[in-house]
Amino acid sequence: MTARAVTILGAGAMGSALATPLADAGWAVNLWGTWLDDHLLAACRRGEPHPRTGVPLAGSTTLFDSPDLDDALAGADLAVLAVASAGVAEVTRRAARGLAKVRAVLLTSKGFAPDADGRIRLLPDAMRDTAAEQGVTLPPVIAVGGPCKANEVAARRPTGAVFAARDKALAEEIAKNFATPAYRAEPLDDVSGVEVCAPMKNVYAIALGVCDGLAARGGEPFHDLKAATFAAAVRELVLFAELVGGGLRTAIGLAGAGDLEVTGNSGRNKIYGVRIGAGESAAAAYAAMQAEERTVEGVPAAGLAAKLVDQRAPQLWSELPLFRAIRDILAGHDDPGARITDAVLPRV
Ligand SMILES: NC(=O)c1ccc[n+]([C@@H]2O[C@H](COP(=O)([O-])OP(=O)(O)OC[C@H]3O[C@@H](n4cnc5c(N)ncnc54)[C@H](O)[C@@H]3O)[C@@H](O)[C@H]2O)c1
Repeated sequence: MTARAVTILGAGAMGSALATPLADAGWAVNLWGTWLDDHLLAACRRGEPHPRTGVPLAGSTTLFDSPDLDDALAGADLAVLAVASAGVAEVTRRAARGLAKVRAVLLTSKGFAPDADGRIRLLPDAMRDTAAEQGVTLPPVIAVGGPCKANEVAARRPTGAVFAARDKALAEEIAKNFATPAYRAEPLDDVSGVEVCAPMKNVYAIALGVCDGLAARGGEPFHDLKAATFAAAVRELVLFAELVGGGLRTAIGLAGAGDLEVTGNSGRNKIYGVRIGAGESAAAAYAAMQAEERTVEGVPAAGLAAKLVDQRAPQLWSELPLFRAIRDILAGHDDPGARITDAVLPRV
């Protein structure tokens, strides 16, 4: 590949973090901030660390404000879409004509997207539909997954990602051209498997957080329960991957089990679960985190995933005891620890 210019859409934690490996790998990097990112770009322009990662932006990055989207995409060979799932449709709509000219769009966003009739789609399908409404055909969308904490990527700590494309050769080529000593991606052809594991591991991380919250509340660890919950979550990630036509290897690899491990150790979904396990009601914990502008992506994802199961395979519910438990907990179950215990311990 001779391509060497990449535009990252979204100057939040993940978008800004990816500028580091891409610049290190020799790419010219444009970073475009949405209309919500002015304060983030301002801090970077002042030479301060990025407010979300605490790490200075890669030095050679060129910054673009929200109105300058066309300029940001002009001449790019590849694009990375790194906005929160709630912004994917609007940013795709605004960027569609520019995106049509790049060779591929890498997607780091994690979530589900209902269509106008309420049918649950994976994000690449939703992006293609949105672009089609503008009369635009998108290039291949590459699902980016795996255990990647933005601050660690930005700080060049070792990170193993996955890049999944329908055309695996394209994923291989881009993975090779993005590789640095610290950031490497495994190429896959299982776009759907990666796309369903990404939001579902946020859902299951809430349950892992509950286990840690029980420990915080009682002063004694619940490592056995957390490990049983982890194993149950991986088993259910396999079922979700298969539900959308994806594969077991994706769910037990970096995009599923790997990302679940890192998300159950830190991050907003886990913290939300900790609060519940420690005794706060699910509703109060959610409201408190919203007030702190800490989006808990696993909560809406749980509701949309339930619709996905209803729509595509309602018979699967009997094989998803942990997901059913999480749904009950989010709905206000009065004993989250007991509910998870009941779901994940072997039945005798
Ligand atoms: N932070 C991580 O470690 C990490 C790792 C892997 C994947 N991701 C995923 O990447 C995506 C971005 O996460 P982040 O950590 O950078 O979040 P962030 O909150 O730091 O940044 C969010 C980005 O999305 C944009 N955005 C938010 N709401 C929007 C809306 N309604 N309309 C348009 N744009 C909107 C913001 O302007 C910003 O550019 C998420 O889907 C997240 O799950 C994050």
